[in-house]
Amino acid sequence: MHFHVPFLLALLINVAPSDANLLARSTETVLRAHKHAVKRSAGLARDLRLAFNGILVEQNKLGSSRVYCVSSPSDNGSTLTNGTSPNPSSPATFAPNPTSTGSKGSSSSTTSGAAPTGSSSASSPWKLSQNFQGNSFFNGWDFFTGADPTNGQVTYVDQGTAQSAGLVNINNAGNVIMRVETTPQVATTRKSVRITTSKTYTGGLVIMDSVHMPTGCGTWPAFWSNGPNWPAGGEIDIVEGVNDYTNNQATIHTNPGCTVPTTNSSVLAITGTLVGGTNCAAAQTGNQGCGVRAVQSNSFGSTFNNNGGGVYAMQWDNNGISVFFFPRNSIPSDVSSGKPQPNNWGQPMAHWPASGCDPFKFFYTHSAIFDTTLCGDWASSAWTGSGIPGQEQSCAQRTGVATCEEFIRNNGAAMNDAYWEVKSVKIYQTS
Ligand SMILES: *[C@@H]1O[C@H](CO)[C@@H](O)[C@H](O)[C@H]1NC(C)=O
Ligand SMILES: *[C@@H]1O[C@H](CO)[C@@H](O)[C@H](O)[C@H]1NC(C)=O
Ligand SMILES: *[C@@H]1O[C@H](CO)[C@@H](O)[C@H](O)[C@H]1NC(C)=O
Repeated sequence: MHFHVPFLLALLINVAPSDANLLARSTETVLRAHKHAVKRSAGLARDLRLAFNGILVEQNKLGSSRVYCVSSPSDNGSTLTNGTSPNPSSPATFAPNPTSTGSKGSSSSTTSGAAPTGSSSASSPWKLSQNFQGNSFFNGWDFFTGADPTNGQVTYVDQGTAQSAGLVNINNAGNVIMRVETTPQVATTRKSVRITTSKTYTGGLVIMDSVHMPTGCGTWPAFWSNGPNWPAGGEIDIVEGVNDYTNNQATIHTNPGCTVPTTNSSVLAITGTLVGGTNCAAAQTGNQGCGVRAVQSNSFGSTFNNNGGGVYAMQWDNNGISVFFFPRNSIPSDVSSGKPQPNNWGQPMAHWPASGCDPFKFFYTHSAIFDTTLCGDWASSAWTGSGIPGQEQSCAQRTGVATCEEFIRNNGAAMNDAYWEVKSVKIYQTS
């Protein structure tokens, strides 16, 4: 699917015929962003806004930034529930404690992950390389303090500021909290947190166990990774969505030459549904990426939270790249025991096979990243979207506020659920 600007604009027109202001703004934004991107990035349309089947999506990327993706079509069918999970418990106990990285102190920054092939033995081929949890969780992550590359209404703050502002802490359960500023009213941005692993990896198995993720109108959280010289080093979006969405979308973005061989989920042996294109090259598709939407309606947002969260696993080896999702009550015992055996997990929600995309040519030297932005390219453009799993009614309708930006400025209490509560991030490698 090749989308170009006039076609996108036509889609935009179809999407929001009743909101002339939004349309004008969107159109202007697209054109401005497109010109800007072309000028700034040698022809890469990094800021191009895309629209698929009535769901606006926007994409933007600059060097170290995130790229995101896409939306999707048809699957429907999750129930909207307000995110009523309790606030993360209790105050911070920051114990600076230097031992978070792993049982193997020496994992290099570019260990290559060879594929574990069909072992039926009880032992896992995967060795723990980096382990982030508990009081030492933040050791090994850098706090990003630049402007949000996706134009969100946040100010990313350093660790000291985040701690003193109560945006990060370890709760009584020993889980890390990363939240957005809930001050009732702000002039422009809200403080937020974006962290990146200092040590990189090439190939591996990344397992992230989360109890709660940010949710609600205006939010746009992600757990993802990217490599250097975007998109040359590739981008893997493991957990991502906006507003009240309840179904996760996993996406890859690459240099030209990486494709998905089919759109047929049965052939791909995945549980999810391809929602982007089959050409994953950012430069050739307006950065559409190859996105896959989960069918599980508890895989993202409020329904994920109400179910106690769950585990996401990203496997990157000679077979390609896969993303698995396990709701809280069906986490495999080999994951819990720290001896992961992906071969026993059944079908992943997403898989990008090596047959279409060399996993070590298009992806290398990744850092894992958590962030929560507000509004910005995707959440703002999806503000008036409806008929999306979890967002059957638009945020404009639900909040009675016309724009994401205005809502975020004036409704700090609505940000009470805009937090990550993470039990652990474990990065395994085969050697
Ligand atoms: C959901 O939350 C919104 C905004 O907080 C509120 O107005 C609405 O009444 C809630 N709906 C339900 C079913 O709780
Ligand atoms: C997908 O592939 C399966 C298995 O080859 C086939 O039975 C099915 O008809 C295909 N579905 C579509 C929509 O082509
Ligand atoms: C999705 O569901 C909503 C209500 O649950 C419905 O109004 C909408 O038409 C559905 N969209 C699609 C594409 O089926």
